Amino acid sequence: MLRRLSKEQPDSFAFTPANLAWAEAQITKYPEGRQASAVIPLLWRAQEQEGWLTRPAIEGVADMLGMAYMRVLEVASFYFMFQLQPVGTVAHIQVCGTTSCMICGAEDLIGVCKDKIAAKAHMLSADGKFSWEEVECLGSCANAPMAQIGKDYYEDLTTARMAEILDELADGKVPVPGPQNGRYAAEPKMGLTSLQEYAKDRPQYNASAQLAVDIGDSIKRIDGTEVPLTAPWQDRSDKKGDAVPDLSTPELADDRPVDSTGIDKREAPVESTGRPESGAPAEAASDKATAEDAPGVKPATLSGARDGGPDDLKMIKGVGPKLEALLNELGFYHFDQIAAWTGDEIAWVDQNLQGFKGRVTRDDWVSQAQTLASGGETEFASRVKKGDVYE
Ligand code: FES
Repeated sequence: MLRRLSKEQPDSFAFTPANLAWAEAQITKYPEGRQASAVIPLLWRAQEQEGWLTRPAIEGVADMLGMAYMRVLEVASFYFMFQLQPVGTVAHIQVCGTTSCMICGAEDLIGVCKDKIAAKAHMLSADGKFSWEEVECLGSCANAPMAQIGKDYYEDLTTARMAEILDELADGKVPVPGPQNGRYAAEPKMGLTSLQEYAKDRPQYNASAQLAVDIGDSIKRIDGTEVPLTAPWQDRSDKKGDAVPDLSTPELADDRPVDSTGIDKREAPVESTGRPESGAPAEAASDKATAEDAPGVKPATLSGARDGGPDDLKMIKGVGPKLEALLNELGFYHFDQIAAWTGDEIAWVDQNLQGFKGRVTRDDWVSQAQTLASGGETEFASRVKKGDVYE
């Protein structure tokens, strides 16, 4: 099946503040230079938030990870768990059509979806609330036929029960996941034949269904406030030794300043004049300032691009539109500015790239910028000019 981006796309994407905090924490799981390893978790969280993966979301994740847009699109289009078309606002129904389920009636379940949702997979229902698709084995073959709805499995389905479930969802209810024919889990249909003593004190539902009921997020869009942010692999203490506040609490999350690039500016730098630069517009840029304890030395910055306009910083491998905007905001518009960064200045810039920390050295921006500033061309820049780099 051809998996392409939807023709219908929103103008922009931004993680919610709590999801952004979560995403930034995920990136820190990986060693310097290996931030791209966070691509699947970040794409998944974007989909959990929006319901499907939009082009701006794919590009936003690419910018956060310093990846070419094409590389992230390759990941998103490879894994079928990523929805590249809009899905129903209430639920997307994934009916298993593999052997066990097919033998036990999957085609009839698909018939229900065709009747009640849309004639074809990935089409939205007339009211936009539902969509459906057939998927490969979901590993619940002992409870065939089954469907995944949102995060959870609805098993031992019949056509009548499938239709009821859709009606209940349309009414704003969330049916209890798990077996729909009275079975507790995957025991024989006539009941347990062994380990019967363990059945006496068991919870109302099997572990998966019970967890789904307890969490209650089967078809919920995730905004990051559902579960407190924990990042035990990080030192999450501030300099005073106090724990960093839980950013997932709505009060704090709403106060968290996020700029137009989606970057958290909570620890944005304080005023710094930087070293003088001859021939540049006099004012150092916006004094976007740094954290008081930011390491390194602030490089010379500009209050705006020189006559002739800014350089296309996206010619530097690792700089996408969002990073370019962030660099401009910090006062960097030209290749020669970046080409002149010293080690201490890179440390300062790094500190202020927030979610993009480590990017300068990882992609060696300085030597790329030196080549471009002297009128040369890097292999990456020539690919950008030819349009081989997806944007
Ligand atoms: Fe349907 Fe395995 S065949 S879950």
